[in-house]
Amino acid sequence: MRIGICGLGTVGSGLFNLLESNRAEIERKVGRDIILSQVGCRRDHPDCDLSSTNVTRDIFEVANNPDVDVLVELIGGTDVAKDLVMQAISNGKHIVTANKALIALHGDEVFSAAEQAGVSVHYEAAVAGGIPIVKSIREGLAGNTIEWVAGIINGTTNFILTEMSREGSNRSFDDVLSEAQALGYAEADPTFDVEGIDAAHKLTILAAIAFGVPLNFSAMYTEGISAISADDIKFADELGYCIKHLGIARQSGDGLELRVHPTLVEKDQMLAQVNGVMNAVMVGSDAAGSTMYYGAGAGAGPTASSVMADIIDIARGGKLPDLGFVSLAPTGILAIEKIRCSYYLRLGVVDQAGVMANVSTILSRHRVSIEALIQKDARRGDAQIVILTDEVLESEMLDAISEIESNEAVTSKVSMIRVSNL
Ligand code: HSE
Repeated sequence: MRIGICGLGTVGSGLFNLLESNRAEIERKVGRDIILSQVGCRRDHPDCDLSSTNVTRDIFEVANNPDVDVLVELIGGTDVAKDLVMQAISNGKHIVTANKALIALHGDEVFSAAEQAGVSVHYEAAVAGGIPIVKSIREGLAGNTIEWVAGIINGTTNFILTEMSREGSNRSFDDVLSEAQALGYAEADPTFDVEGIDAAHKLTILAAIAFGVPLNFSAMYTEGISAISADDIKFADELGYCIKHLGIARQSGDGLELRVHPTLVEKDQMLAQVNGVMNAVMVGSDAAGSTMYYGAGAGAGPTASSVMADIIDIARGGKLPDLGFVSLAPTGILAIEKIRCSYYLRLGVVDQAGVMANVSTILSRHRVSIEALIQKDARRGDAQIVILTDEVLESEMLDAISEIESNEAVTSKVSMIRVSNL
């Protein structure tokens, strides 16, 4: 089987070297030769010896090369990547991609072109790097009805939150982000990581394969970690929680919840133990129960491992429905205001008699019941109140917050973080 690789960055170089080092073992697994026909890249990679490789600077040459059966798209981005993949499909080539944005935003179009051309599109590396989560849900758990999927699916944000929560860590946000970039984790534009867009791309794909719904990126509620402060991490810790950036897809009675946001997770939960750049995805299903998948969510070797698994699938000749369902069921997506969960609130108030009573009166008027409440740091006349609520409808919570913020004794915006209810 003849492959062509487009893109020789972190993942492309990882794949090139994995093919070099494991070729004999891989060929023993598939019973066929795997030939690297061509590499298309803007520049050579210092970690790759390309002396006996056919290299072109024009990636479309790979899409048009009759000696390529499988095009491996590792250039990232959506515009050129989509043109490249569509061109390769129209030339009858199978596709392997690590591009979550491409699948989340244009997957329907790409899959339907592939169907018509009689080729397949594989994207294991698009979600959670080296963790074989697509295959685990689509194949390993195929006999189950999936109830929920919740994951730490962005290593950069997990790294930043982990560093912020380390006692005595005085590292700046920029310093921590630079380290994630140096490790090959961060996106080309790190706002994709920090603002939750990268996680939303991945959750779009996970939700489609878990629930058999169309790819639904635009319906996703997406919130990043830029508003999380060191105080939030410290107070959450005192209450018995850590703060994780989670992607959650959950079938509730009223519709499918699709949301990416910082979340308070109880410290003894397994997801709370996932630190640094590591990723983990938990799946709740009716027969298998809860299962969890943990590993490196990015980086050269781990992501190349998933790309190679897809190449091996093609070499073995199996054909699965792209999202694992022969027919997709368009399902109502629940607006974020309609979810029910518990909330962490932090607000600054004037330190005077009656303020706490006012805040709790407003909460009770909106049917928000308080589970825990602490007052912190009375200084310079101001105090911070931290509240953990019981479960309530989000729209009620938001109404209560806007009423609290308009109270003259309240000196700050309310910081609101959802609490995990899985
Ligand atoms: N920027 C991503 C992360 C890389 O930090 O997890 C893998 O998609």
